[in-house]
Amino acid sequence: MSLEERLLLTTTEVSPLCHADVGTDHALLPLYLLNNRICRRVIATEKSPSAFHVAKQRLWGRKAEVRQGEGLGPIEVDEVESLSLCGMGGHLVVEILSQEPAKVPPIVVVQANRDSHKVRQWAQDAGFHVVKEQMAKGHWTYEILTFHRNQGVDKAYENVPHELALHFGPLLLSQQHPLLLEELNRRREYHHEHPQNEELRRIKEALDLLHSQGDYRS
Ligand SMILES: C[S@@+](CC[C@H](N)C(=O)[O-])C[C@H]1O[C@@H](n2cnc3c(N)ncnc32)[C@H](O)[C@@H]1O
Repeated sequence: MSLEERLLLTTTEVSPLCHADVGTDHALLPLYLLNNRICRRVIATEKSPSAFHVAKQRLWGRKAEVRQGEGLGPIEVDEVESLSLCGMGGHLVVEILSQEPAKVPPIVVVQANRDSHKVRQWAQDAGFHVVKEQMAKGHWTYEILTFHRNQGVDKAYENVPHELALHFGPLLLSQQHPLLLEELNRRREYHHEHPQNEELRRIKEALDLLHSQGDYRS
């Protein structure tokens, strides 16, 4: 079974013990995790009744449970070691993670379709460090962010301007990810010049930062 790259990159980040996929839709990610023996057990949750029924059929007879409900509602405290939230907006992801913080496991993998900065801000506020930032091409260009619960200051943000790090990724910026440069150039073309266009200002600052780091792999 072929999986979109954004989901494939998510599969490398989950716990091998018990993983929960929230907003699983047709359970493509859980199915891949079980078919490829990446996880021993998976819990797939979905709020939409029709998607829930498809997910249930797809995972029938597997080491998986499909539960209907909103956000982390269907998951018990300490039940899973990792959690993924993919294909949603960053605002919704933060809403789900903030509603029941006691249920958030030590590993969280997020592929937000937009507003990743809101998810990075959640992580800083909730005591999670960003340990990996990946990018994948598909219908759009996606960011796949891996957070681990940790104490103290997240060192990934050291030496990177904070606003740019939140919006474009501290690790993506410091690693000079080739897809980040491509994406920033694409977005710079798309935005209209205007002194009050904050997003365009950030994009230009991020491009300046990347170019100033030298030996850019273009
Ligand atoms: C765009 S789909 C993404 C599906 C899959 N995770 C993926 O990345 O391909 C978003 C899914 O999240 C579900 N969803 C939206 N809000 C939710 C919530 N609060 N709790 C659980 N599921 C939710 C939707 O019903 C939908 O199936």
